[in-house]
Amino acid sequence: MAAGVATWLPFARAAAVGWLPLAKKTMPKPPVDNSSRSDEILFVNVSGVRFQTWKNTLDRYPDTLLGSSEKEFFYNEDLQEYFFDRDPEMFRHILNFYRTGKLHYPRLECVQAFD
Ligand SMILES: *[C@@H]1O[C@H](CO)[C@@H](O)[C@H](O)[C@H]1NC(C)=O
Ligand SMILES: *[C@@H]1O[C@H](CO)[C@@H](O)[C@H](O)[C@H]1NC(C)=O
Repeated sequence: MAAGVATWLPFARAAAVGWLPLAKKTMPKPPVDNSSRSDEILFVNVSGVRFQTWKNTLDRYPDTLLGSSEKEFFYNEDLQEYFFDRDPEMFRHILNFYRTGKLHYPRLECVQAFD
């Protein structure tokens, strides 16, 4: 990010003092990124800690509780969220697994507790 800003800074300064003419040609249209439009954000409440994630992220693993319709059993209509009575510290790593496909065991947690 810092590198990106640094590249633009001279242009921004030059434009500010009027060195650069305004673009005469029309700018090309920005690319349309509607890849996630069909997606929705889900709220997962793990013992009071609220997580947000894309539904697509969870759907990557349809054989799991969160990736399947099994999670509907834990849906709270009033709060519009899924509630799980689990350790939120660990859920952070579980959610990361859905995102990255890699499960990192935190050094301080028991591997058996993860199962
Ligand atoms: C994004 O929207 C445009 C215009 O509605 C459509 O032509 C295009 O197919 C869409 N792309 C994706 C990946 O859905
Ligand atoms: C999490 O769920 C519990 C039980 O449904 C609820 O009492 C609590 O307000 C929720 N917390 C958050 C942050 O959504």
